[in-house]
Amino acid sequence: MPLTNRSTLTQFLIEERRRFPEAGGDFNALILNVALACKAIAKAVAYGELGGVLGSHETEQGGSINVQGETQKKLDVLSNEIFLRMNEWAGHLAGMASEEMEQPHPIPVCYPRGKYLLTFDPLDGSSNIDVNVSVGSIFSILRVAEGGAEATAEDFLQAGNRQVAAGYALYGPATMLVLSVGNGVHGFTLDPGLGEFMLTHPDLKVPEETQEFAINASNSRFWEAPVKRYVDECLAGKTGPRKKDFNMRWIASMVAEAHRILMRGGVFLYPRDSKDPSKPGRLRLLYEANPIGFLMEQAGGRASTGRLPMLEVQPESLHQRIGLVFGSKQEVERIERYHAETQAGDRDIPLFAERSLFRD
Ligand code: F6P
Repeated sequence: MPLTNRSTLTQFLIEERRRFPEAGGDFNALILNVALACKAIAKAVAYGELGGVLGSHETEQGGSINVQGETQKKLDVLSNEIFLRMNEWAGHLAGMASEEMEQPHPIPVCYPRGKYLLTFDPLDGSSNIDVNVSVGSIFSILRVAEGGAEATAEDFLQAGNRQVAAGYALYGPATMLVLSVGNGVHGFTLDPGLGEFMLTHPDLKVPEETQEFAINASNSRFWEAPVKRYVDECLAGKTGPRKKDFNMRWIASMVAEAHRILMRGGVFLYPRDSKDPSKPGRLRLLYEANPIGFLMEQAGGRASTGRLPMLEVQPESLHQRIGLVFGSKQEVERIERYHAETQAGDRDIPLFAERSLFRD
């Protein structure tokens, strides 16, 4: 391949840092370690069955259920290990929290501690691993209040608007790293020959309008009224109140849906529902909703619980789940409006407020 004038991730980070001459090199080194973890996971994913990493992870006790009550795949466990090992040694972090671990991972005593916290979902969409459909890793970087001390679970309970950076790697037909350090959203494609992420998609913007939505419709009987109303209106197409036809997608890898939305717009919903009263949503605030929310907002889109801007939610626990809606701004605002109207309706005429437009 001839030499191109594309930036590498390293060059991009160094140029970004020049805008903040007071910043130390820790942050850049941290992002590069995260990127290295993503490259290692990309390699494991790409080997598939040949790497002997497909299927469920059996513990010594014979189980394979993680802290989320979900079946853990071998690749979930391996990806988690990769994130921990690639990031614990360098002295930039005070702690890490992973979707796969009940408690934060302390930095081993033999290594120095730093001022950042890293949270991650090492392999999102892992039900897709064994069927060779795209999966990804999601990460978020926060500042710890007290640099140098070991991080506690409480240290991670920061609202999404305090994130310093967030991003994901998508292990699709091409491996991509999509990153925001608080100055827009930038996409890098892995050049497998060079082993470098190259800047291929600078300054991504989510189109404000869309005709595409993503939701797991098998849950429709558990949805709340505003979500039913929104989906009913999309399904009604040209002859309905929206006066246009909609298209629907569901990959079941949230990271891949987020990527599609960053590329061509759309809206994603995994809303709060009544399926399991112990879970006020399926997705996790710290490992999924906040980092993706940060990217969406940085790209001119929006992320919300339906009731509140996602990035304003004060987390209450490490593995908190939450209803999540994100994507094209106008659609997310419409869904928020439907929630607000339902709430107002609940106050005025409680009997009718829970009705959707086309269905009871
Ligand atoms: O981590 C959760 C996740 O795998 C997301 O990536 C995805 O959007 C969702 O679960 C799929 O859920 P369901 O199996 O209900 O479609």
